[in-house]
Amino acid sequence: MLQRISVWAAVIMIIVFTAVACAPKAPDPVPEDELLMLTLEELKQFDGQEGRPAYVAIDGVIYDVTNVRTWVGGRHQGNMAGRDLTEVLKNQSPHGTRVLGNLRIVGRLK
Ligand code: HEM
Repeated sequence: MLQRISVWAAVIMIIVFTAVACAPKAPDPVPEDELLMLTLEELKQFDGQEGRPAYVAIDGVIYDVTNVRTWVGGRHQGNMAGRDLTEVLKNQSPHGTRVLGNLRIVGRLK
């Protein structure tokens, strides 16, 4: 009986450890003095095309989506990187702002 409980305890621990290890982690923050300060016009060049990084602004904060699986080439569900997508994210996307926690903040809008 005791042996069976230990086996189950071990199985549960393995599942919990695997879940924790595989959970997406927030990226390391960019130091404050290295953050970009961009105008909306300057942000446009970070469109994810032809090898350029893909950045999007949400509520004045600039996030890096360059290596996000669903943002290949700076495009995602009809949206393009290099823009302020606050309204789209909050009012048209199924996920809303919860996806932001996994993105690296690279700057702020001027
Ligand atoms: C019309 C608007 C949008 C729609 C319909 C949409 C839809 C989706 C869907 C269905 C996924 C899950 C795809 C998958 O995992 O297979 C996804 C993921 C994602 N979306 Fe959007 N999205 C929209 C706008 C945005 C905007 C404006 C952002 C800006 C930050 C964004 C950021 C993300 C990110 C980062 C992921 C990956 C989440 C993760 O795997 O951690 N999306 N989106």
